[in-house]
This record gives sequence, structure tokens and C-alpha cells, in this order.
Amino acid sequence: MATAARQSSIAPNDLEAYWMGFTSNRAFKKAPRLIARAKDMHYFTTDGRKLIDGTAGLWCCNAGHNREPIVQAIQRQAAELDYAPAFQCAHPQAFELANRISALAPADLDHVFFCNSGSEAVDTALKVALAYHAVRGEASRTRLIGRERGYHGVGFGGISVGGIVANRKMFGTLLAGVDHLPATYDRANQAFTKGEPEYGAHFADELERIVALHDASTVAAVIVEPMAGSTGVLPAPKGYLQRLRQICDKHGILLILDEVITGFGRLGFPFAAERYGVVPDIITFAKGVTSGTVPMGGVIARKPIYDAFMRGPEHVVELFHGYTYSAHPLACAAGLATLDLYRREKLFERAYQLEAKFADAAMRLKGLPNVLDIRTVGLTAGIDLASQPDGVGKRAYAAMERAFHDEEIMIRVTGETIALTPPLIVSEDEIGEIFDKVAKIIRAVA
Ligand SMILES: Cc1ncc(COP(=O)(O)O)c(C=O)c1O
Repeated sequence: MATAARQSSIAPNDLEAYWMGFTSNRAFKKAPRLIARAKDMHYFTTDGRKLIDGTAGLWCCNAGHNREPIVQAIQRQAAELDYAPAFQCAHPQAFELANRISALAPADLDHVFFCNSGSEAVDTALKVALAYHAVRGEASRTRLIGRERGYHGVGFGGISVGGIVANRKMFGTLLAGVDHLPATYDRANQAFTKGEPEYGAHFADELERIVALHDASTVAAVIVEPMAGSTGVLPAPKGYLQRLRQICDKHGILLILDEVITGFGRLGFPFAAERYGVVPDIITFAKGVTSGTVPMGGVIARKPIYDAFMRGPEHVVELFHGYTYSAHPLACAAGLATLDLYRREKLFERAYQLEAKFADAAMRLKGLPNVLDIRTVGLTAGIDLASQPDGVGKRAYAAMERAFHDEEIMIRVTGETIALTPPLIVSEDEIGEIFDKVAKIIRAVA
């Protein structure tokens, strides 16, 4: 144990072989940010420093780090059942977890398809949507509508409906038949809003224009994040999601809410769908379902969607889709223990109760040098910085480096935005600490 612990805290001396995703590899390898262990609200670096986690890992460790009940559940499961085939076979915890997740989801979203990441969840949702129309005899509905500034992971489906230029431009022609709604952000009319902006529901009306262009009979589904996280925390304007729902209903189009970030408490509810009183046809989830401990993602579909597939001879596979590691026993054990913890500690309610204090603390950064906008919703804040004249993203990158190396805090930056999304166990004092540190960092990179 002592040896293992010591070894894991030694920094590797050759960083070349690992090609890191969404990372500036050369800059990173000159000044690596290496984490050895974590506990509750903190990370510990390989050189023994303690950092407060302002980002719940990558928006995923909602219950905090290395929580004992989750750790023990994973350990127990690993000793009991390592793996069971996911096709034509299963293990009991998969059903238990599916039931628990469907109980958290709104209305008749009561069938859960498991996969291993948010990207897989998105591709699964898009495939289910297309196949659903096909099995109902509306196979002409093949078009998918995403949104500019949307992030739906890195699969070909996800980057096609996604709206981040850098994630798309090098990867060929992507999926055919995809169109995009405009982003919902308009700084001139929304700057420094706490929660959902008053301005912007009309952005949903663009769906009518897109449907008119292609004809409803060709459109399968619309996919949006209730809050666009990865492009800088863009909460849905008031009434926006409701309007999307109405237009989808009018034209027989499925509405998919990508809740990979917003699921499991980030906005103070099990799913953001509940916060907005909107019942989507499909919800995607990942991240918080296991509090980031074991990879898992999934899709929750409304009952009529599942039922539409349950036809034909019973020995025939109904949906030709699935992953070797769908509902992996370790992920299910982690998921069940995580959901227990969320319930026992009332962490979703806690996020809801802390929202106003979190927003106030964030807004105190208004007026600091280069701060162009601050947005908050749930336990999430996005802070836009002005770019340096010599390059977009340089100031935010400097902020991230400074946070890790000098201010003992983990922050996330995307473009020129600092995103803060702490675990839902964050205390009021820690909220203060996080924003004090970020204020110091913003001054330092001015
Ligand atoms: C809304 C949304 N969808 C999908 C994904 C992709 O998830 P993963 O990185 O687990 O594939 C993310 C990741 O941040 C996300 O924010």
C-alpha cells in the first residue's frame, strides 16, 4: 500500500507517449498539471499541493471526490462480478439502475439505454430518433437539427449536430442532412444576467424557418443542451425551451435534451427538463450519473418511443445498437451508490438552495479588468474575458495555468471564458474561496 501510494505520487519523467485530448500537448508537457489523488472538494497534485476543485473534474464529480460509499460499492462489485455480456444477457444492477434513473426523469421518460460516455449517449439518441421514425413508417424523417455553439461530444453524430467550428472543420463532411438553430446568446441584451435571461425566447422561432425550408416530413429530431456548457455557460432564455417543445409538437419532431452536464443536480434538479417544465422525448446523460467515478452514459426515452420498437417476432433484436460495456457492472454499482448519496445528502436540493449565493459571489467579479460578461445558472458560472491583442484564448489559458500553479484552484477555460462548476457538496465558505481566488487570477492576467 505504502509503495503503491508512493509510486502513484511520483511524476512520470517522459510525457511524450500520451497524446492528450482537447489539450495543448506541447505547452502542457513543458509545465504539466498532474493530479495524484482527490478527496471531497480537493485535488492533490503529484508535488503534494492541495487544490480546491472549481469544476467538479469535467462537470462530472457532482458528489465530490472519492466518496466512501461509492468507492466501496465499486470495490465490492469488482470482487463480485467483473463483467457480464451486454447483448442477450444482463446482470440485476443494470435493471435496478435503469429503474432508479427513470424514476428521476420526468413524465413517461421511462426506458434507459446505457452506454459509456456523453458522446455515445448523443449518437445513441440520434440513432434512436432516426430508427423510431423508420419503424413507424416515416422513414423520410432523416434530418437532424442542432444549434450553433452546441457541444454534443466528439462522435460523428455529435460533431455534426454540434456547433463548435474547431470541433468540426477538420473532420470532413460529417453527417448529411443536418441544420442548426442560432445560438441563444446575445451579449448586448443579456450581459450580467443571473439565471435564465429575459431576452432570447424568439431564437427558438428559427426552428419554424428551418422546418419550412426542409419540410417537416424530412425532420427527425432537434437536439439542444438546456444550458450550453462547453461553449461558456449559456443558460436557455426564459421560455425558449418551451417554445422549442411547442414547435416540435406541431411538426411531429422529436425533442432531445442533451443533459450530459445538466443532469444529476447541476441546475438544482435531477434533470434540467424539470426546472424548465419541459418534457423532451429523449434525454441524454453521462458524467454525474456515477459522479465521474466510472465511465457511463445513457439515453432515456419516452414510453411510446420504446413501445414503437417492440413489434415483430419476439426472438428478433429490436434495435441494432449497443456497446460491449453498456451497463457495465462497475458503472452500475457506482451509479447506484451515487444516486443513493445524492438522495441521502439531498445534493440536488442543495444546489438549488445555493444557487443565489453562488450567483451573487460570481457577480462580485463584475468590474474587474477585462471581464466582459458573467452568466450563472444552478451551480455554474461563466466569466468572459477580453482577449489579449496577440491571440484569442491566451488570457484564459494564462488564467488556467495561474490557477493551477499559483492559486491552488482547478478552473476550466473554454475559448476566453472561465467556467466554474464545483461539486454540489461545495460549502458557502468554499464558494467564497473559489471566487476570491478567481478574482485574484483575473487581476493577475490583466
Ligand atoms: C452536453 C454534452 N454532451 C456530450 C458531451 C460528451 O461527453 P463525453 O466527453 O463523456 O463523451 C459533453 C461533454 O462535456 C457535454 O457537455
